Amino acid sequence: MDGFAFIDGHLHAERVRMSTIAERAGTPTFVYSAATLRDHVRKLRAAFAPLDPLPCFSVKSCPNLSVLRVVAVEGCGMDVVSRGELRRALAAGVEPSRIAYAGVGKTRESLEEAITIGVGCLNVESAEELELVARVAAELRRPISLALRVNPDVDAGTHRHTTTGTKATKFGVGVERAEELFERLRDHSFARLEGLHLHIGSPVLDTSRYAAAIDVALALIERLRRRGHAIRVLDLGGGFGADYETGQSPSPQAYADAIVPRVLPLRDQGVRFLLEPGRFIAANAGVLLLRVVRVKREATKTFVICDAGMNALLRPSHYDAFHFIWPAEPRDGLVPTRRAIETGLAGLAPCDVVGPLCETGDYLALDRSLPPLREGDLLATFTAGAYGMSMASRYNAQPLPAEVLVDGDRAALARRRESLDELLAHETDPEALA
Ligand code: LLP
Repeated sequence: MDGFAFIDGHLHAERVRMSTIAERAGTPTFVYSAATLRDHVRKLRAAFAPLDPLPCFSVKSCPNLSVLRVVAVEGCGMDVVSRGELRRALAAGVEPSRIAYAGVGKTRESLEEAITIGVGCLNVESAEELELVARVAAELRRPISLALRVNPDVDAGTHRHTTTGTKATKFGVGVERAEELFERLRDHSFARLEGLHLHIGSPVLDTSRYAAAIDVALALIERLRRRGHAIRVLDLGGGFGADYETGQSPSPQAYADAIVPRVLPLRDQGVRFLLEPGRFIAANAGVLLLRVVRVKREATKTFVICDAGMNALLRPSHYDAFHFIWPAEPRDGLVPTRRAIETGLAGLAPCDVVGPLCETGDYLALDRSLPPLREGDLLATFTAGAYGMSMASRYNAQPLPAEVLVDGDRAALARRRESLDELLAHETDPEALA
């Protein structure tokens, strides 16, 4: 399910009209549905119930504190990849023991912080990082549970920018080196290498790719076991898809069917499981509201120019991603029948939906059939909850969008819009450095 639907011809977030939100919060604004966030967490947990995993919500997908609080209350830990994300997870009230910390570029400071606060699982991405973590843990005399991110050399079959499990990418350690690294830390007093971490890409729409990666990890776990290394944690990563178009993504159960039977025997051996879902939980829990600034007609083209474009939602431009777009208050009852390129409705006309920035790549949709639009119309860009605001920029000195969280019939401002003064706030008085 998701919480965004046309009721009597008006787009609502749960029970709140989107036009009301736009009037009060302005545009561009990301609107999130709390009920949808909760529903997605529940569905994932239900599908993976035989493993009783800790779902660590991937903060990078939607880092707003109000969103993090909703998923934390629903039972999620957090997957973080920076000190900033760690700060957010802690500010949302998440226990350090429920935090998994990944990332190829953790600095000494970030490792010190992660070890000191005692994150539940520190996912190590290289032999070099492992050496440093072990040294820092010994200096601090603090125990830390480590998982080695292994690179299974499995192609996730997704966009090249978001494929992370092949040898050509910077992520994880080749399985052939893993045993040697476990040996190196065998008797370390503080750094306990006792887990494996897998994350092959995002989104992974072919569930057999998980199976292939897990098979590589299972063979490694067996080899490690024979050498006396017990694996206690298996972090299965994220990458579960979301429906950008109706019916596009496998269900949570389909993912579980590919994953659970393979790893279930490990549960009896005392292995704990982590998942790191981001997109599955957040993508369809968010809509980006935009206002049409101008409808420009030139020769054969119509450009619907909105008050934000790639600065608010980079995905169409960066990944050629499809996002369904529709007016929030369509005229003549032109309500869409599903989220896909509409072909069945009369009265649509093709247009490019673009932003105000000075780049040709600043678009949200090209050659898209939409109902006739006018200046001042409100447009909804769907499936924008994941990797929307988190990848937004201030390019062309555009303030970041506002964020609103809807829960039932209540809408609350979850991040206020930046002012123009705030855009200048970091650079008023030049300070001498040298
Ligand atoms: N775990 C790790 C180690 C990750 O790197 C990621 C995502 C996740 C979990 C969560 O993946 P998810 O469940 O959300 O698929 N900006 C891109 C997606 C980049 C994903 C980066 N890592 C996009 O907009 O499609």
